[in-house]
Amino acid sequence: MYGLGDVGFFDRIAPLYDRVMPPANGEVLAAGLAHATRPIDRLLDVGGGSGRAAAALTGPEKTVVDASVGMLGRAREGRGLSAVAGDAGRLPFRDGVIDAVTIVDAFHHLPDQQAAVREAARVLAPGGALVIREFDPDHPLGRALVAAEHVIGMGSRFQPPRGLAAGLDDAGFDPRIVDRGFDYTVVGVRREE
Ligand SMILES: C[S@@+](CC[C@H](N)C(=O)[O-])C[C@H]1O[C@@H](n2cnc3c(N)ncnc32)[C@H](O)[C@@H]1O
Repeated sequence: MYGLGDVGFFDRIAPLYDRVMPPANGEVLAAGLAHATRPIDRLLDVGGGSGRAAAALTGPEKTVVDASVGMLGRAREGRGLSAVAGDAGRLPFRDGVIDAVTIVDAFHHLPDQQAAVREAARVLAPGGALVIREFDPDHPLGRALVAAEHVIGMGSRFQPPRGLAAGLDDAGFDPRIVDRGFDYTVVGVRREE
């Protein structure tokens, strides 16, 4: 049984979050989404928090999904985004109705990471893309981040790009590592059943 991990922390810091975080890199996300082999009309930003990443994307109908009510309030009231409360491991959407899922700077906070990948696979239509932006724990800056999040009591678990790609493959995605560095992008394209 999994709880909701670091969600309480994000509820507490929600009023400050966008003041300290730089804008998300919309170009990198768009490059990841370009791997989809179907048109992207409907996108979920899972663990989307205050909508920082969703706000950096143009085009599709976007919905922020997050387990923190405080963060969702910022997405809704601060950015005018559609926002739905939900656990990444149990998405409140029907099978195959979504064209793209993004998970930006959030995967390491998820208590059941493989359940989140399976849920993304379930809600995505074939050819849809799952785009995950994460931090590499084997990069020198990544090692510092792992230590820092541990010190402040977060339950973060970071995956290197290859491990994340293997998890996507297991869940029915064709995975590719799109870029590497301290932060990196892994994309999975939903295979046909
Ligand atoms: C570092 S923030 C990133 C927010 C946003 N993606 C961004 O890039 O600014 C991590 C987010 O993951 C959310 N989160 C943590 N566990 C979650 C879960 N089990 N289901 C959904 N969201 C979760 C937190 O509430 C928080 O908003």
